[in-house]
Amino acid sequence: MSKLIAQQIANLSLEIKQYNQQYYQLDSPSITDAEYDRKLRELRLLEQNNPELIQANSPTQTVGSSALSAFTKVTHELPMLSLDNVFSAEEMDEFIERINNRLKRTLQLNFCVEPKLDGLAISLLYEKGQLIRAATRGDGAIGEDVTRNVKTIKNVPHHLHGNNIPARLEVRGEVVMPIADFEKFNLTAIANNAKAFVNPRNAAAGSLRQLDSGITATRPLAFYSYGIGIIEQGELADSHYQRLQQLKSWGLPLSDEIQLREGAKGCLEYYETLLEKRTNLPYEIDGIVFKVDSITLQEELGFVARAPRWATAHKFPAQEEQSTLLDVEFQVGRTGAITPVAILQPVFVGGVTVSRASLHNADEIQRLGIKIGDTVIIRRAADVIPQIVKVLASNKESCKSIIFPEVCPVCQSEIERIEDEAIARCTGGLYCAAQRKEAIKYFSSRKAMNIDGLGEKVAEQLVDEGLINTPADLFKLSTEQLIPLERMGVKKAENLLAAIESSKQTQLAKFILALGIREVGDATAKNLAHHFLTLSAIQEASTEALLKVDDIGEIVAKHIRTFFKQAHNQEVIQALLEAGIHWPKLQKKADDKQPLKGKTFVLTGTLLKMGRSEAKQALEALGAKVSGSVSKNTNYVVAGEAAGSKLIKAQELGVEILSEENLLLLLE
Ligand code: IVH
Repeated sequence: MSKLIAQQIANLSLEIKQYNQQYYQLDSPSITDAEYDRKLRELRLLEQNNPELIQANSPTQTVGSSALSAFTKVTHELPMLSLDNVFSAEEMDEFIERINNRLKRTLQLNFCVEPKLDGLAISLLYEKGQLIRAATRGDGAIGEDVTRNVKTIKNVPHHLHGNNIPARLEVRGEVVMPIADFEKFNLTAIANNAKAFVNPRNAAAGSLRQLDSGITATRPLAFYSYGIGIIEQGELADSHYQRLQQLKSWGLPLSDEIQLREGAKGCLEYYETLLEKRTNLPYEIDGIVFKVDSITLQEELGFVARAPRWATAHKFPAQEEQSTLLDVEFQVGRTGAITPVAILQPVFVGGVTVSRASLHNADEIQRLGIKIGDTVIIRRAADVIPQIVKVLASNKESCKSIIFPEVCPVCQSEIERIEDEAIARCTGGLYCAAQRKEAIKYFSSRKAMNIDGLGEKVAEQLVDEGLINTPADLFKLSTEQLIPLERMGVKKAENLLAAIESSKQTQLAKFILALGIREVGDATAKNLAHHFLTLSAIQEASTEALLKVDDIGEIVAKHIRTFFKQAHNQEVIQALLEAGIHWPKLQKKADDKQPLKGKTFVLTGTLLKMGRSEAKQALEALGAKVSGSVSKNTNYVVAGEAAGSKLIKAQELGVEILSEENLLLLLE
């Protein structure tokens, strides 16, 4: 039995050592961090139950991986350690209990709480305030000399300034690539057919461990301090938190999130706060680090193997997990764009179960080198759509190439791919059922014709049953045709017809938007309506005339012209107008039509007849400015029912006060 376990431990150790090498030396991990953490925990558990089998060089007892030979080696005077992890509130309590047992007393402990930055650990050695050496952590005992590279990082000071700087001072911290820079870097890399990085950590490590420091200099890296190693000839505070503040005063960068908290409760509250803030931070963090603040207590507690007893990390839920690509579907969008969609073995990542992810286009498939059957990394940072960032392993025999279709999978029309455009499109137009469905959904959507009750399912059934081909056919539907549809019935059918009927009264901008012209969204539709005032003027506008409209450039102008040139689009527009769609006439805004120009209004209290946003629109249409607060520059305060502090302020400042009645008269 124990032989079997010894074998298991040996295998797992060997496997983890290979992962360490890929991660630390080659900057090219072959599994996700989450999977790595699970393996390490499995090994630790096996060892805990069989302590006699623990090897001195087990990955649970060592740090990182030995230094790459390409860089000069640096022996750390004080070893650079790693951190143990807790994964729950219970484990956090156990961590504090272990500390108290060790200290043989029960103290309310103060913790310095810090974001666990996801980059790579670096040691900076300052002598007489001058940066003389920078090194990676390596295996904790020996790292790599990366001084030239680190000196290219903009926020690493080459000289420290201030009082009481120790003659020798080793600052430790993390080098990261800020998220915004990482995203920009990857976009450029993809556009240039260069290698994109999987995540900001990988980008930071890959950029820092370049043999040519000229390359590092072009990478947007940043450093944040989180600790101190050697101190010679200098006194520092007995608090880790105060020490970090002192580093800051000497010019070293510090994360803004570092705080002092009390006990397990304080630590867990901080964990929750930062978990929420996670996506708003400029850098990626993968958890929190809790450190006993008192240096005296830290020294009393000391270390075990690879990690201090006085600190631990509480990891956040993983944003990257492994899955398998089961299949690829090709979706046809409203404008015919064909999007390959990955069908994945469902996996819980970034707080949700992911089973589909967009593969964007054929270039992306090629860039990833992805095949059906591959093991892939799915990344889902909070609120961001899931992405496949890397293929981990390809089983050559069972994997199948992804074949991009040559004809539309829905209507079999030809697919065209315009040179220089990544997107392939079905040329079927409204002949394609997929495009018809999408066009009808878009036409009915809230910002366009706003037809209540015409959601995705109904639109699909209407097309599938052959009841409508174009949006104009919506206006010919009868209750008899609708009732037999799935989950419809008499009442819903009547409501839908009533909604279609009332949608006929609309606005020019909404109608333009509803037509679904490529690249013409909400704002462009409004600009077109206000500029040209009538539909026929827009239909007939030349490219030059279109280019005079706000926000319209060559490409959008071309799409607008192409749309109106198509005979079938003209037919649909004609049919829609004949069905009775209409909108109020628009008039050019001229200064003489803006009698309230230069006047500032404040609306307060409840306006019963028109509502505040309507009143605001009406006032602005007459040239007035509507502000949120009363000042001496306010000309009128319109006080509705239950007006409060703004009314009082207006009275104090002697600003003219209007009732809702007065306002209505004024608007007339
Ligand atoms: S303290 C003796 N503080 O996490 C304590 N580490 O798994 C050593 N890290 O190698 C580390 N943010 O690269 C500490 N605020 C922080 C950190 C942090 C990120 C990294 C560091 C270390 C690894 C430990």
